[in-house]
Amino acid sequence: MIDPAKKEEVLIEALPYIQTYEGKTFVIKYGGAVMTDDRLKQTFAKDVTILRKIGINIIIVHGGGKEITATAETLGIPTTFVDGQRYTDEKMIEVVLMVLAGQINKEIVNLININGGNAIGLCGVDNLLLRARKLVTEGRDLGLVGEITSVNVPFLSLLLQNGMMPVIAPVGVGDGGQLYNINADLAAGAVASALKAEKLVYLSDTEGILVKEKLVSSMTKSEASRFIDEGDIFGGMIPKVTSAFDTLAAGVNKVHIIDGRIKHSLLLEIFTDEGIGTQMVHES
Ligand SMILES: Nc1ncnc2c1ncn2[C@@H]1O[C@H](COP(=O)(O)OP(=O)(O)OP(=O)(O)O)[C@@H](O)[C@H]1O
Ligand SMILES: [Mg+2]
Repeated sequence: MIDPAKKEEVLIEALPYIQTYEGKTFVIKYGGAVMTDDRLKQTFAKDVTILRKIGINIIIVHGGGKEITATAETLGIPTTFVDGQRYTDEKMIEVVLMVLAGQINKEIVNLININGGNAIGLCGVDNLLLRARKLVTEGRDLGLVGEITSVNVPFLSLLLQNGMMPVIAPVGVGDGGQLYNINADLAAGAVASALKAEKLVYLSDTEGILVKEKLVSSMTKSEASRFIDEGDIFGGMIPKVTSAFDTLAAGVNKVHIIDGRIKHSLLLEIFTDEGIGTQMVHES
């Protein structure tokens, strides 16, 4: 049990943040260990429900790369990565839809709704939420990997105004109904940008951005580019960082990368003076 004085202190410290964020929109990218550990899943569902109940609009965009790979393997479909991105053919996009927009999406929605969070599960196909086209990258073909061309903002606003919490699987839809597999970090950034959200939070299984094993608590775009060039930021961290700065440029106030492995890290980041993880900020 926390002693009552401490509890009071925590609640009082949270009050100005609650007042500031009431009616604002937060986009949360849900990925890494917090998506697979049973205890962390439960606390995440409670945290987002609390945020919603105090009047913050919450949108969740989730990943699920490990689960897609595992199901594809069970079905005898091989997985190939090109520069850290999943090569997606006709067979693989079916697995992506089934696992991301089906199994994982509904599991998250169900957990949140057990806690009373009014979650609604969607993917880009639903009411053309995420329109996309084939991602063209220099000299590499990633198959049906897409990039978002537009987000159906009026639809999301309608859901938020009615107290619902959209939970989005990053599958996009192109002309003629073609499905595209979209990197969840980039999808979260595109949704936050389109909505001009107050915050974009990446929940991942790292303390934040580490450089030479030390946590960097605040980072500008030029610093990030240098860390990428020097190899201190690599792999799965690259789409988060690139998307973070695109999102800031689009008018989103703050982007955070925080540790989903810490219980209630989302609440700690939002409601305490210290904050945790890495904050991406505009050049001063
Ligand atoms: N400078 C860095 N600091 C911290 N992590 C880094 C850094 N550079 C690369 N990484 C890697 O990025 C990983 C996080 O990205 P990853 O794509 O694996 O997870 P995620 O995006 O949270 O989950 P998912 O892709 O399943 O949605 C870390 O586990 C770490 O290995
Ligand atoms: Mg990732």
